[in-house]
Amino acid sequence: MLITLEGIEGSGKTTQINYIAAHLKDLGHECVITKEPGGTVIGGKIRSILLDPENKSIDPLAELLLYAADRVQHIKEFIAPALESGKIVICDRFCDSTTVYQGFTRGVDIDLIHQLNKLVLKGVEPDITFILDLPPELGLERAWNQINNGSRSVMETRFEKEKLCFHENVRKGYLKLAKKEPDRFVVIDASVEEALVREAIIGKLKEFLILRKM
Ligand code: TYD
Repeated sequence: MLITLEGIEGSGKTTQINYIAAHLKDLGHECVITKEPGGTVIGGKIRSILLDPENKSIDPLAELLLYAADRVQHIKEFIAPALESGKIVICDRFCDSTTVYQGFTRGVDIDLIHQLNKLVLKGVEPDITFILDLPPELGLERAWNQINNGSRSVMETRFEKEKLCFHENVRKGYLKLAKKEPDRFVVIDASVEEALVREAIIGKLKEFLILRKM
């Protein structure tokens, strides 16, 4: 089973992913946490190009292809083997980030992105996707606090440096996807305090696991 988390900058995915893993482990499931971009050694090198604020002139198509390259390597080396061995994989960002950031927000043709996703994913698709939703002002404030206190790298701030309207479009993009595919997406209000976000996610996860008889 593949669980993914999506959301704008500062939505708290990284914190919540650990709660999901802890809950699944308590239930006796074997699970692994990973992230995109940068879930492999090669992916880590691609990540440093993608998030470097000096690379703000990167062409949207070049950006798209780098995310795709990262994902190909990640699925081959890490995600597919883990799924094959029966583990639950929890991934911080996945293919929906590409649709929303490179497609809806940067304006790369959506059909091209769908075709590329098909080629890259080879059938590895999320079973459930949590969208951590909150106003971008709040998300960016949280992200910059983390950058300023050193818990997030200043070398990876290319997206945080985008204008507010960019992040508003990202948020809208996620909500649009969620409307289109309500069976897979679960939208969580991430503007409230961490414990309430955790409760909401774990509640939905429990319902999902019951449906899957897990
Ligand atoms: P990261 O530091 O992991 O951000 P966060 O903690 O908010 O998840 O940076 C990942 C950035 O890459 C994020 O701004 C979104 C962007 N991204 C894309 O534009 N397309 C993609 O396909 C993926 C996976 C990420």
